[in-house]
Parts: sequence; structure tokens; C-alpha cells
Amino acid sequence: MAKVLILGANGKIARLAEHIFVDTTDSDLRLYLRNAGRLKDFADSHTLVEAVEGDATDVQTLIEAMKGVDIVYANLAGGNIESEARAVVEAMHAENKTRLVWISTLGIYNEVPGKFGDWNNNILGDYITNYAAAAKVIEDSDLDYTIIRPAWLTDKPEVDYEVTQKGEDFKGTEVSRRSIAQVVVDIAQDPDKFKRESIGVNKPNTDGDKPAWY
Ligand SMILES: NC(=O)c1ccc[n+]([C@@H]2O[C@H](COP(=O)([O-])OP(=O)(O)OC[C@H]3O[C@@H](n4cnc5c(N)ncnc54)[C@H](OP(=O)(O)O)[C@@H]3O)[C@@H](O)[C@H]2O)c1
Repeated sequence: MAKVLILGANGKIARLAEHIFVDTTDSDLRLYLRNAGRLKDFADSHTLVEAVEGDATDVQTLIEAMKGVDIVYANLAGGNIESEARAVVEAMHAENKTRLVWISTLGIYNEVPGKFGDWNNNILGDYITNYAAAAKVIEDSDLDYTIIRPAWLTDKPEVDYEVTQKGEDFKGTEVSRRSIAQVVVDIAQDPDKFKRESIGVNKPNTDGDKPAWY
């Protein structure tokens, strides 16, 4: 029975993953977030779930939160995502934790081909640079990471995805948050899955010059 620490636990993908965990697994969850009161009701209503207060750049608080966990799932964001990555890696080292799932984005290796790649670079700009720097911190570490690079996210209630590896062209333009959440839960149940891999995740047959809603 894995104990999972979820960083940025009120994020949209994280919330979906939390519901999949409690509905379909026996995993313990420690939810780590700013303003932890936001998830108090959820934690109080599930015996295997606790919510703790913390910022993902605060190494000492991260170290405390990592005690007793088997896997760390980081669902973070923001212009300081590289600092967050450094803090998470430092805390994992301090607590001898090895397994990390890190949500990143498409485009960090300039792997998105064609017109969609150009559009993506133009619209995302510094965001991609920051996320690439964060991913490099993780890949340069000795952790057993999985970096997940989702396509443009939708809230469609579907699990429908395919995977590309680092070094391959990215496929498609979109993927549902629900699909990404399922990938995270599947890794937590089978920690060798996608170990030390950086995977692109997209919905099949969604190639185009832009996501369909643009
Ligand atoms: N939108 C897209 O099409 C797309 C595509 C590919 C990848 N992505 C990326 O995928 C990731 C997950 O997506 P999502 O929809 O779940 O994002 P989200 O709802 O924005 O969740 C990100 C979470 O990170 C938390 N966070 C940020 N800085 C933090 C800090 N210093 N300490 C603690 N928590 C912090 C936020 O917490 P608060 O609630 O406290 O603000 C938020 O809950 C994001 O990084 C997103 O940029 C997005």
C-alpha cells in the first residue's frame, strides 16, 4: 500500500488524481498545499487522506511532509517552477526518497513539430523556458523520476491517451486532465512504470496547427 505525497494538491489534475486514488486504490495520501483548509473537508471525509500546509519552495516543510511516503507527485506551477524543482529534489535527498512524478509541459525539448510547435513556442514563451529549466534540475538528479509532458489540457471526462518518449516528436495537440491523473495513479500503483523517463502524453488523432478550440 503506497503512501503518496501530492504537492500542489489543490491543482486541477491533482484533484482528479486524488479522487481516482480514493475511489480505486488503497493508497494513503498526504496532500501538501498552500491554504490547506481548502482540502480539509476532503481529508476529513477519507480516513487514508491528510492535508498539510506548505509551500513547494520551503525545503524544511517539504522534508517534514516526506516522512513515511513512498512516492512524491508534484503537480506544481508558476514562474518559479525551477526553484520548486530544486526544493523538491533537495528535500527528497534529505529524506532518502527516490520516486518522483513531475508534471511538466509539452515543448520543453523543442520536440513539438511543425506549425503547432511554432505556435506553441510563440504563445508559451518564458513558460516553456522555466519549465525546461525545472525539468533539467530533475533529470540531472539521481532520482527515479517520471516527467510527464501533457499536451494542451482539456476537462473532458475521458481517459484516452498515447505516449511519446524523449527524443521523439510530440504527437497531437490536446489531452484530458483526467488522462494525466490516471497516468499518475497507474505509476503510483506500479512504480517501475515510466521510471527515469520523460513522456509526452496526448490524445490520439488530435494533430493540428493549434488545439481545436483556438
Ligand atoms: N493548461 C495547459 O494546457 C497545460 C498543458 C501542459 C502542462 N500544463 C501544466 O500542468 C501542470 C498541472 O496542471 P493543472 O491544470 O493541474 O494546474 P493548476 O490547477 O494550476 O495546479 C497547479 C498547482 O500548483 C500549485 N502551486 C504553485 N506554486 C506553488 C507553491 N510554491 N507551493 C505550493 N503549491 C504551488 C498551485 O497552488 P495554489 O492553488 O495554492 O495556487 C496549484 O494548485 C501545471 O504546471 C500546468 O502549467 C498545463
